[in-house]
Amino acid sequence: MSDLRETYLKAIAGAGDEATLEALRVQALGKKGEISLAMRELGRMSAEERQEAGPRLNALKDEINSALAAKKQALADAGLDERLRGEWLDVTLPARPRRQGTIHPVSQVTEEVTAIFADMGFAVAEGPQIESDWYNFDALNIPGHHPARAEMDTFYTHRADGDDRPPHVLRTHTSPVQIRTMQAEGAPIRVIAPGRVYRADYDQTHTPMFHQVEGLAIDRDISMANLKWVLEEFVKAFFEVDTVDLRFRASHFPFTEPSAEVDIRCSWEGGTLKVGEGDDWLEILGSGMVHPHVLLAGGIDPEQWQGFAFGMGIDRIAMLKYGIPDLRAFFDSDLRWLRHYGFAALDVPTLHGGLSR
Ligand code: DAH
Repeated sequence: MSDLRETYLKAIAGAGDEATLEALRVQALGKKGEISLAMRELGRMSAEERQEAGPRLNALKDEINSALAAKKQALADAGLDERLRGEWLDVTLPARPRRQGTIHPVSQVTEEVTAIFADMGFAVAEGPQIESDWYNFDALNIPGHHPARAEMDTFYTHRADGDDRPPHVLRTHTSPVQIRTMQAEGAPIRVIAPGRVYRADYDQTHTPMFHQVEGLAIDRDISMANLKWVLEEFVKAFFEVDTVDLRFRASHFPFTEPSAEVDIRCSWEGGTLKVGEGDDWLEILGSGMVHPHVLLAGGIDPEQWQGFAFGMGIDRIAMLKYGIPDLRAFFDSDLRWLRHYGFAALDVPTLHGGLSR
């Protein structure tokens, strides 16, 4: 009997799964199991033999039963441990940026520009891309036969035959948002208006759709000095340099008086552009003090209020900052180009976190 005991306890201890345990149980304690058969033998024993063998068999039966139960529990615990190990997840790991999709440089730069101007108290304003010619031209002091209309290579929409109202246009600049904001908010105003604009033009630095950001600040005593400070702060933050040299060049726009185009000091040494040093100048935007006619068109009294405005090419400053040579590639949807020049989705530009990590 001690053989039986040893055989079964050893087999149970070595069982690797529940099926093996169950087979052992049947083999020992099933109807035709070894221990059951031995118990049946008791009947044929003498009373003395039975008195000695009976309790021993019962004890063995109990012992095997408990060994089976203990092993079953141990197997279940081990299974759970293994599952927990397999399904373990470190929630403190940083998310892995998947490089499948990237943020387009135009979106990235729009975010950067917005973050910088937001820091200076500018809100974001919007207007429609299909615009009436009044908002796009007349209200901006560009009357019917002004040469600026011809220069803009405007896309016109089609009117039905016999409808002689002036056609709508695809806005040629973001400046009409100035008028819409004046009408909607009245003075004072501090907004930028980034968005798409359209002109019939196509070469290395021109595409029929491109992006501008308009700026408009109206208050009681805003001057060219405020314009200059705001633009200098912007350029320093955007190009991530400590000093900049800006050159305000007298110019002409119908919607500003006086008007200035702004150039930034740069160098092209070694074929790469460096902002803030060197002997070259690069034009980056148009600006000026808002013309009284424009304030009037927006419903603002030019005797009480004045302000500055500016307009800048977003694609253009994106090309400069990130060294992208051809504007046309911006809108080709070439995945290799997007992977090369795109930005990781989680790198949201902020002034404190770094604009262009
Ligand atoms: N709208 C002009 C353009 O598209 C840019 C511009 C120049 C906007 C001067 C302004 C400004 O607000 O004051 O060429």
